[in-house]
Amino acid sequence: MRAHVLSGSGINGLAIRELPEPTPGPGEVVVLVGATSLNFRDLLIARGATDRIPLSDGAGVVSAVGEGVRGVSVGDHVAGCFFQHWLDGRIEARHHDAALGGSVDGMLAEAVVLPAAGVVAAPRGWSDEQSATLPCAGLTAWNALVEGQRLRPGATVLLLGTGGVSVFGLQFAQMLGLRTIMTSSSDDKLARMRDLGADVTINYRTHEEWQHLVLEATGGAGVDLVLEVGGGQTLARSMACTRFGGEIALIGMVSGQAPIDPFPLLGRSATLRGVYVGSRRMFTDMVAAIDANPMEPVIDRVFAFDEAQDAYRHLRGQSHVGKVVIAVGSQSLPA
Ligand SMILES: NC(=O)c1ccc[n+]([C@@H]2O[C@H](COP(=O)([O-])OP(=O)(O)OC[C@H]3O[C@@H](n4cnc5c(N)ncnc54)[C@H](OP(=O)(O)O)[C@@H]3O)[C@@H](O)[C@H]2O)c1
Repeated sequence: MRAHVLSGSGINGLAIRELPEPTPGPGEVVVLVGATSLNFRDLLIARGATDRIPLSDGAGVVSAVGEGVRGVSVGDHVAGCFFQHWLDGRIEARHHDAALGGSVDGMLAEAVVLPAAGVVAAPRGWSDEQSATLPCAGLTAWNALVEGQRLRPGATVLLLGTGGVSVFGLQFAQMLGLRTIMTSSSDDKLARMRDLGADVTINYRTHEEWQHLVLEATGGAGVDLVLEVGGGQTLARSMACTRFGGEIALIGMVSGQAPIDPFPLLGRSATLRGVYVGSRRMFTDMVAAIDANPMEPVIDRVFAFDEAQDAYRHLRGQSHVGKVVIAVGSQSLPA
């Protein structure tokens, strides 16, 4: 079977290798990967990782199960869990030891072998391309919205930019009956977000002091929750427009890192909660919510397996909205 392997020289070093067909040991399953998707993290990993199959996100069909496997059968459509061993409860340091496409080989391969507990059933009726969008960006947005403070219907969520996490944040926020404010560098992208249901949209390029517009849009109170993916250029502004007692889910730093004064947070008695993807239990909750509230992930573009380098460059260019996908095997809809 073929897999892409990183060689330590960035995106240019990503190359296809022929590797042995995986076979399942006790408690393991083999997944024929139908599709994978890219995350900002994968750009960072590509800079340094060597001899590693990249990408945390992939979905496909189970082709073989090892001895003692219960609850997963040949023919099941599944997605891999970002943290292979974080089943439930709080995250622990040991969970980092099995993060797909980071500390262990990932999903950019025609076939992978995973612990049976490291996969979850894909949403009903979703293609592998669709299910491959969920493990990192989808679950991170879900965790940020659902696992922190309890939000009452009508509470307001701030979403920064129109990348994978933020667009899932918009879709799940709507599912949960929340009001949404979304920022972007592009008016065209903001128009798309309004079509998707965003209540308030703000161009952060033309309105550098966008936190004032967020306050205005919330009657001066501030938002209940921020999905903070921006980092250096955004966190201080997010703190300035979070309501008293509100929460900032600290997720990422697409705009880099910068020293931050935490006192505005204290003044508002607000909470800063680090969010790191999510557990298997959160993943199955998310899939159950999708099954009960039909939706479709926003896929910007699908690249072929041998176009993986182009897919990385497309993500790096930030012209995308939502998710960038790489098709791997033949696509089929689950029955
Ligand atoms: N902690 C976790 O578990 C976790 C999980 C997933 C992702 N992350 C992190 O979250 C971040 C987003 O990941 P992703 O995969 O969703 O990224 P992505 O799809 O590559 O999103 C990139 C988008 O970020 C927006 N952006 C860039 N600079 C911005 C700024 N100054 N203010 C607001 N938005 C800005 C841009 O949107 P516009 O083009 O619309 O301006 C850009 O297209 C990354 O830092 C990633 O590492 C963390």
